[in-house]
Amino acid sequence: MSGGIDNGMTTVTLRVHRFTPRQERERDRARGGSPFAKKSSPFGGGAARRRPRGKQWVQEYTLPASPQDTVLDCLLAIKRGVDPTLAFRYSCGHGMCGSDAVAINGTPTLLCTATVKDWARRPGAAATADDEGFRRTGDAAEAGSPAPEAEGPEPDGAQDAVGADGSLGVIELSALPGFPVQRDLIADIDPMLDQIRKLKPYLQADGVLATTAEGKVDVFEYLQRPEQLARYEMLSNCIACGVCEGSCPVFAGGDAFIGPAALITASRFINDSRDTATEARLDAIDTADGIAACQSVRACSRECPRGIDVGEEIWQLIAQVKER
Ligand code: SF4
Ligand code: FES
Repeated sequence: MSGGIDNGMTTVTLRVHRFTPRQERERDRARGGSPFAKKSSPFGGGAARRRPRGKQWVQEYTLPASPQDTVLDCLLAIKRGVDPTLAFRYSCGHGMCGSDAVAINGTPTLLCTATVKDWARRPGAAATADDEGFRRTGDAAEAGSPAPEAEGPEPDGAQDAVGADGSLGVIELSALPGFPVQRDLIADIDPMLDQIRKLKPYLQADGVLATTAEGKVDVFEYLQRPEQLARYEMLSNCIACGVCEGSCPVFAGGDAFIGPAALITASRFINDSRDTATEARLDAIDTADGIAACQSVRACSRECPRGIDVGEEIWQLIAQVKER
């Protein structure tokens, strides 16, 4: 970002759904250390999915920006020069870590790969149609913020429009839907990570280790043919960003569904010829909150930043479980 509003540079307005959690009450704190403290729900999820309480409001920031700037660039400019209290999460800055998933104009996506030209919406412009008819889960998360209007990137050409005042438009931001909000644009993704952990996201292979005649540990090398690698290589690119979960109306409903990201993790190992726990993995997802909960809405496939066709992969898992 360079220049300023006065020297003719264009601007963008970020409309941010903010949230500050209420301070834990003294009474609750005291109870936390007690053996009689209330435990989380016996049905799982419990504390992790509990709706946090606090102050919610919408705040607008207008700042100089170029069409090529990312939304993350804009937030960093605000954080560094305008409002240090604004909270958001990021790490790599180029689509590799998955830590910065939020809802932009109601659509789950990554801050660091979303550009102003793709997402700024000119005031008064007609909403872009969802050509596949999906209902976007544009809920401003479980904190209960009003849901912004769900809307994808502007179609080609629309992004070139600059208002007479130099404005590129408005971008609406809220925390990733389907997860409790921790603060502002930071969602608590622990529920997703817990579900992924449950499905043992690591290679389980018999006979990898052996002891040599000298008593030393020997590790065998596993060779795979290119076609065996091709069966799971794409799936191993999942960065657990939660975009597919934030898009899934079933996952947003609570603990009833283990979630598409966890199923992608399972699929990655089920399709790996080296893994010897396939049956146990299929058993683990053949549950009421596993593949049986998927309604095949396929909203999960639409915004995956790693290009994984999540809905299709889940469909393949369903077929594998049913064919056993
Ligand atoms: S499947 Fe795609 S959208 Fe879902 S968590 Fe992995 S990278 Fe993110
Ligand atoms: S900051 Fe790492 S994916 Fe966006």
